Amino acid sequence: MKVGDRHYRTIWPTSDGRAIEIIDQRWLPHEFRVVPLSTVDEVATAIRDMWVRGAPLIGVTAAYGVAIAMLGDPSDAALDSTWDYLHETRPTAINLRWALDDMRNLLRPLPPAERADAAFARAAEIAEEDVELNRSIGRHGLTIIRQIAASKPEGEPVRILTHCNAGWLATVDYGTATAPIYLALEEGIPVHVYVDETRPRNQGAQLTAWEMVGQEVPHTLVVDNAGGHLMQHGLIDMVIVGTDRTTRNGDVCNKIGTYLKALAARDNGVPFYVALPSPTIDWTVGDGVAEIPIEERSSDEVSLVWGRTADGKVMQVRISPDATEAANPAFDVTPARLVTGLITERGIAEASETGLRGLFPR
Ligand code: MRU
Repeated sequence: MKVGDRHYRTIWPTSDGRAIEIIDQRWLPHEFRVVPLSTVDEVATAIRDMWVRGAPLIGVTAAYGVAIAMLGDPSDAALDSTWDYLHETRPTAINLRWALDDMRNLLRPLPPAERADAAFARAAEIAEEDVELNRSIGRHGLTIIRQIAASKPEGEPVRILTHCNAGWLATVDYGTATAPIYLALEEGIPVHVYVDETRPRNQGAQLTAWEMVGQEVPHTLVVDNAGGHLMQHGLIDMVIVGTDRTTRNGDVCNKIGTYLKALAARDNGVPFYVALPSPTIDWTVGDGVAEIPIEERSSDEVSLVWGRTADGKVMQVRISPDATEAANPAFDVTPARLVTGLITERGIAEASETGLRGLFPR
């Protein structure tokens, strides 16, 4: 997407093709910083410490991490240890395992001398595929926005609530939950996006809001707790969120707080949609609440908040007593029964095994 006058993706190979550059998302919206990653350790740090984040982008970054590892040591042992090392960086987003498996399955049968080149080529392909998946999700999601727009008085915006950041910064480009929004605006359908701030790390306030400003999407930032109130007062027409892992039964794991939005949506008859690229489906898991590992992150993310002071300094401040301990489960699971539909690259599926198998039979 555009940053100023320039088109950016979130990740790209360096000109010599032996490393990558990423947008370091920790500094947004205050500073736009691009940093190179040229070792597996740097890639692991960037994923773990959320310089890059969002399930699809985590997967693509890990794929490039494998390629970088193969430059130094293309042996079977290095392939396995890189898989283990990168896999433990973020336990919930399933795209990470998907991308690591894809890379290992491709590289294992190749002679070691050919592995690095093949790995960079495949990582680039996965990145391209991600862009295409998001475009397709956009086209299918657009049909829902069109229907809602048609049911409203002419010129009234379709009001969409979103949680966390499932926009282009969470993917390679376009985003999953945001792709239908961009297409709707291109088609001239007025849209207004309500952006949940998304405590503790504020991905909504810092990243989604920054994206909306950059692409000139009408939007309003709200605190996480405002969603139920807005829905009760008829101010939200639909919810679209992303997902870090969706089970074969259609249970949706996403950023902490998503479940509460789904409960409020159900109580108020507001449709609740999930934008779901197929690499985010975990076919090995049925019951999301019981089986998905939920990442527990540092309590500092709850107790300390990043912001910019009036004199332009970007810094962290503490908001709770020093002696207060904080818990920080990073994701929750929304049961399939609360999900109106899964917007995939192949169409909109009911949130159930039958619905998903209908679009993805194998
Ligand atoms: O902890 P994060 O910022 O990586 O969490 C991101 C989300 O929860 C997104 O909604 C999800 O990865 C889908 S992104 C297309």
